[in-house]
Amino acid sequence: MNIKICLIGKGIVGTSLLQLLNEKKQLFKQKFNLKITVNSIFESDGALINEKGIDLKEILDVGDDFRNLPYWRRDVKAIDLISKLDVDICIETTPTNPKTGEPGLSHIIEALNNHIDVISSNKGPFYLEYKKIKNLAEQNNCYVKYEATVASCVPSLRIKEDLIGNEILSIKAILNGTSNFILSRMTAEGVDFPLALKEAQELGYAESDPTLDIEGYDAAGKLVILANELLGWSKHIKDVKVEGISKITSHAIELAKPDGFVIKPLAIAENNELSVEPRLIDKYSPLNISGNLNVVELETKYAGPIILMGRGAGGFEAASAIINDLIDITRKKGYSP
Ligand SMILES: NC(=O)c1ccc[n+]([C@@H]2O[C@H](COP(=O)([O-])OP(=O)(O)OC[C@H]3O[C@@H](n4cnc5c(N)ncnc54)[C@H](OP(=O)(O)O)[C@@H]3O)[C@@H](O)[C@H]2O)c1
Repeated sequence: MNIKICLIGKGIVGTSLLQLLNEKKQLFKQKFNLKITVNSIFESDGALINEKGIDLKEILDVGDDFRNLPYWRRDVKAIDLISKLDVDICIETTPTNPKTGEPGLSHIIEALNNHIDVISSNKGPFYLEYKKIKNLAEQNNCYVKYEATVASCVPSLRIKEDLIGNEILSIKAILNGTSNFILSRMTAEGVDFPLALKEAQELGYAESDPTLDIEGYDAAGKLVILANELLGWSKHIKDVKVEGISKITSHAIELAKPDGFVIKPLAIAENNELSVEPRLIDKYSPLNISGNLNVVELETKYAGPIILMGRGAGGFEAASAIINDLIDITRKKGYSP
């Protein structure tokens, strides 16, 4: 089966995905009976378009010079061309405007309106318009998958299928690696917040404007997606009670230590309520993970807590989650074993 792909956004995640698609060509063919043809790659200022299929090795070899390739079309926009291209799956990897979910939201709606399945690593559209996107996908008989939006490659959304005989009651998680890194450094080294933040920025864990991470908005968006997916809720990011970590002092962290507690940036979904805030937890809790890791603890009806943990960011991590989504869609459609 030949699956035609349109990729929107050739940044860290998009480029890592192209590399994985190239590396896994044989695996797709032999194990999944699939030929993956990328026929369009959109950037903000134009697109690479070749209806017969783009040579992925060529794209990867030319690196940043891809705009010099003969099939680069300057100034064309994904939103104008999605409906005109012959595409089975649209993969959305643009950055998000946290207030509007754009440009990804419009790309996703346009793809679904044209009966094209969607995979996204871009979370904004889902924490703002979860229900609208799901309804549209259903109306148009399309699949929409977004594993990479929450904790990247940690299978925090698809686990629902693996717990079909169980029931998830509530969620406690650490979903922002930057906040976790900062509080971990403050706990381990006794450093103040500004120094730990500077360290996170120097190591590339935090953006030059870290507001969305440290004020809890990034984790809040991921929590909305988790809760809607795993608990069947219909929440919006406005429903999350959010408090960031910027007011936590090293003194507060030291005060908690003698009683065996640490302060962690927890995202919680329970009793129909969502919150993201720094909380005291037992130092032996499985949620007490250090560094920039993510963790998701699911309280289940028949098996108590189930815990997933791992790297919640990184290009290849997110790209591998996109590949999982891709295989999942082709299996559901009966194209792959
Ligand atoms: N990096 C990670 O570890 C990670 C993990 C999980 C999820 N994510 C999510 O995945 C998405 C991509 O992340 P990233 O790290 O790959 O970001 P990135 O490196 O900034 O790449 C985004 C790319 O999208 C392009 N773009 C922007 N607007 C566009 C438009 N209207 N049409 C087509 N292309 C457009 C950008 O081009 P210009 O630079 O020319 O604007 C850029 O090349 C984000 O939503 C992010 O939150 C990232």
